[in-house]
Amino acid sequence: MTSNLRNKIVVSGIRSTGKLHLGNYHGALKQWLSMQDKYTCFFFAADLHGLTTNYATAGDIPVNTRTMVEDWLAAGLDHENCCIFVQSDVPEHSELHLLFSMFTPLSWLERIPTYKDQQAKLSDKDLSTYGFLGYPLLQAADVLLYNADLVPVGEDQLAHLELVRKIARRFNFLYGNSPSFEAEINTIMDSIDKKQAKKLRTLKRDYQQKGLSVALENATRLTANLGLEQGMQDSLCSYVAGTGKTIINLPEPLLSVTPKLPGTDGQKMSKSYNNTIALTEAEPDVRKKIKSMPTDPARVKRTDPGEPSKCPVWELHKVYANSEIKDWVINGCRTAKIGCIDCKSVLADSIVKEQAPIIERSKDYRDNPIVDKILSKGAERARDTATTTLRKLKLVMHSRDN
Ligand code: TRP
Ligand code: SF4
Repeated sequence: MTSNLRNKIVVSGIRSTGKLHLGNYHGALKQWLSMQDKYTCFFFAADLHGLTTNYATAGDIPVNTRTMVEDWLAAGLDHENCCIFVQSDVPEHSELHLLFSMFTPLSWLERIPTYKDQQAKLSDKDLSTYGFLGYPLLQAADVLLYNADLVPVGEDQLAHLELVRKIARRFNFLYGNSPSFEAEINTIMDSIDKKQAKKLRTLKRDYQQKGLSVALENATRLTANLGLEQGMQDSLCSYVAGTGKTIINLPEPLLSVTPKLPGTDGQKMSKSYNNTIALTEAEPDVRKKIKSMPTDPARVKRTDPGEPSKCPVWELHKVYANSEIKDWVINGCRTAKIGCIDCKSVLADSIVKEQAPIIERSKDYRDNPIVDKILSKGAERARDTATTTLRKLKLVMHSRDN
């Protein structure tokens, strides 16, 4: 079972805009930790993605990248078990992004909800840039360079993943319907029973001209029963569907189980909103930040009862507390038996407790040249795969000859 899953490729990144924060930890990193032993994983610090919003303070990005990777290692990401690297150390990401940009309709990018939302939310920055519009397209390059099967992401990234899939489909359609694909189809058709081949041609017509989706289903069933190897079956299905040969695999999102974590102001925790608690935040700062969080506005006085579902502090308890503490919060809040200060102090205890061993381990990595070694080895491994994929894609795009 395990060895089977090792064939599956997982790719994911975190923007390196600052220290790793609790939102990154619960939303992404914990999932990475659980995947690194099972799958073939590529995890990277998305420093170029950091540049899309922080181009004016680009000087901070290298330090942020480095610190973030140190935090990953301190939290238990194991470079022997997965490939850890920095996005910009693998220039193939940038090159593939450029090639993809040639056939990406602007409307696909403009329509992605995060584009307008983020521009509005980060109105202190000028994000009416080419690079920011291309943010999700760069993500497509990140993922497709490694032929990913699975991409662990948070809910806010689902629209980006949908774009990644659209780009892969469009690539296959544009460059998979080549003369060599036709020749391949003809060879397969010649090798199978004449009646079945004729049937497939009819199904293709029914699907592509009459739009009968049942024709595609029948074709899938028929090709599965011809005793052909999987690659040939896939090619026949692509032929019937008219989508072109599958040159790029369509990855699936793997939704993070943790809902988005609120930051100290109650909005989603994000470096861009300046509301984060770092994974390695010093204890007094954790306590201070939790204390400053907004609560259910109905609790004006200590004796006013509240409703946890209206309170961002509760959202954090949901991630951190055991069932006993959860009951204590729910009952105490609704009956005004506990005050928000008590409630927050228990939350801070749980956070501090989780952080302690990570902070301890992170000291081993600060300024340790081992991290440079890990990253250069990671980039080398990533480039092995990335250069091979890019070469293949450039060949079919005719942007190189061999
Ligand atoms: N956009 C992602 C985020 O903000 C980070 C990211 C960049 C990413 N490239 C990726 C995630 C590729 C998954 C796959 O969280
Ligand atoms: Fe929020 Fe806790 Fe105060 Fe209730 S008691 S409003 S859950 S901080």
